[in-house]
Amino acid sequence: MKGVILAGGTGTRLAPLTHLFNKHLLPVGRYPMIVHPFMQMVNSGVQDVLVVTSPDTVGFLARLIGDGHRQGVQVSYRVQEHPGGIAHGLALARDFVGEHPCLVILGDNILTDNLKPYVESFRAAPQGAHIFVKAVDDPTRYGVAEVRGNQVTRIVEKPKQPKSNYAVTGIYLYDERVFAVIDRLSPSGRGEYEITDVNNDYIGRHAMSHTVLTGDWVDAGTFSSMQVANQLMQDCTYPEFA
Ligand code: G1P
Repeated sequence: MKGVILAGGTGTRLAPLTHLFNKHLLPVGRYPMIVHPFMQMVNSGVQDVLVVTSPDTVGFLARLIGDGHRQGVQVSYRVQEHPGGIAHGLALARDFVGEHPCLVILGDNILTDNLKPYVESFRAAPQGAHIFVKAVDDPTRYGVAEVRGNQVTRIVEKPKQPKSNYAVTGIYLYDERVFAVIDRLSPSGRGEYEITDVNNDYIGRHAMSHTVLTGDWVDAGTFSSMQVANQLMQDCTYPEFA
């Protein structure tokens, strides 16, 4: 199992803070934001992690996280020269992931559930894709999952009239076919390669399963949600990240 942390993007919703720094370097609790998804990756048992980030951030992240030896994992870096969407960032992990399954976490996603049991069961039978959803009050901000019975029937990216309150979180498990799916994508209306289009492809092939997260989850990409993330993580410490 390989791990990919996607930490590119422009962070426009956090401007002007993001005129200086990539949002993943901004503080959440006692650490720069990205440390939380990185430690999620470490605690999930994934041992080989690729961080995809912008050219002006890669040096900061290499200084912050290094090669991962203190956390017992191997970390490498890949530059995303132009922000082209989440699926575009993931495509840069193709050679790193190879024929393995992968766990993908967006660098601004903060959560309290432990992903290890899900990663282990996907590793045991790595077929299709698995997403994590969370009931939220403001679904229009996210990809929204329409669920019938125990199946996700469709995901709509930032719908004006959401059909459910299940946000699709930025945590995904994929089999090795994900790169072939990305190859077939076209850019969306906002000019990005959307991870929602990747997920809908899996749904269309009846190859998608999901988990409803029970713990807290925040996408820390706006001022108000960063504040919530700060509160959630204010007492969180990672001894392996001294
Ligand atoms: C992205 C995805 C969206 C998902 C969200 C979770 O949105 O496109 O489907 O719900 O991450 O954090 P973005 O925050 O890039 O607009």
